[in-house]
Amino acid sequence: MTSTSFPQNAWYAAGWSHDVARALKPVTICQRKLVLYRTSSGAVTAMDDACWHRLAPLSKGRIEGDNVVCPYHGLKFEPGGRCVHMPSQDTINPSACVRTYPAVERHRMIWLWLGDPALADDSTIPDLWWLTSDDWAGDGGTIHTKCDYRLVLDNLMDLTHETFVHPESIGNEAVAEAPFDVTNEGRTVKVTRWMKGIDAPAFLRAQLGKPGDVDRWQIINFTAPSTIAIDVGVALTGTGAPEGDRSQGVNLMVINIITPETDKTAHYFWCVVRNYRTQDQSATVSIRRGVREVFRQDEEILEAQQEGMDRHPDKEFYNLNIDAGGMWARRKIDAMIAEEADGPKGLPQAERANA
Ligand code: FES
Ligand SMILES: [Fe+2]
Repeated sequence: MTSTSFPQNAWYAAGWSHDVARALKPVTICQRKLVLYRTSSGAVTAMDDACWHRLAPLSKGRIEGDNVVCPYHGLKFEPGGRCVHMPSQDTINPSACVRTYPAVERHRMIWLWLGDPALADDSTIPDLWWLTSDDWAGDGGTIHTKCDYRLVLDNLMDLTHETFVHPESIGNEAVAEAPFDVTNEGRTVKVTRWMKGIDAPAFLRAQLGKPGDVDRWQIINFTAPSTIAIDVGVALTGTGAPEGDRSQGVNLMVINIITPETDKTAHYFWCVVRNYRTQDQSATVSIRRGVREVFRQDEEILEAQQEGMDRHPDKEFYNLNIDAGGMWARRKIDAMIAEEADGPKGLPQAERANA
């Protein structure tokens, strides 16, 4: 079953690097059931979780060397998906293979390409360099979200909700009142919001560890279809943060990678890294706990929102000024889906038909 809510020609995170080992791991991405494992060289293999013979799930089989053995009648498939052994016969049917998918490990994540393999260009994987930089430290996790992945994107593209959903930690009146700017280019959207001369919300005050008014920034960087890196922080007012000198403040990057599982569920990989007190493990633990609690509050409202949508399938969303970032994100996703429907880019209609 294909869906019109997510493009196929895109890199999707299938898990953290540590999620996949020398064991068969089933995962559903964009409504496809896949099985992942590492070969003896450490490379990640991703293939359809359905045997060529009678569609038994390969994830319930076993690894033998670098091959997968089907749990039902023992067909063996090598990491490229080709069958290399059939029981009770010497000749292997040349069509016996399982589809495999390009897999790339980068920035502590495993990325898969589900669409046309000829278009799988790994330079289009979002550049999340903070996750592997020695100058940034932190940790995160994975949330299984019971909603359309685009609701998570909407939530992250409009942080006005912090005032109402997270009032005791990262939200206060200043967030909902401050203006913001939205720009877009190619597959990216950027939402920039500065709140100057405000009281810091509790979580950021604790990170800063100093009293006094602050300048706060939230710079949301979306890359279609579903990665959002948010540059956040505070510095004491008058120390030059809006002009570019953040040295007197605290800066965190909130990395969010959301992979559709089905139309109404998603894998939400998140990580928060900071460039201060990078050796302080207790800071890592307390920030992770604090952010996990913030995301739990988001989860609750997003799942309730999905239930509301399910009860009112014909109701369309209203869009306000605050929704500009999310609307642009959805436009970028829709453009990718439309491009796939149109066929190879740049070809005249007549040639597309033959492409
Ligand atoms: S279903 Fe896999 S070997 Fe028969
Ligand atoms: Fe939130």
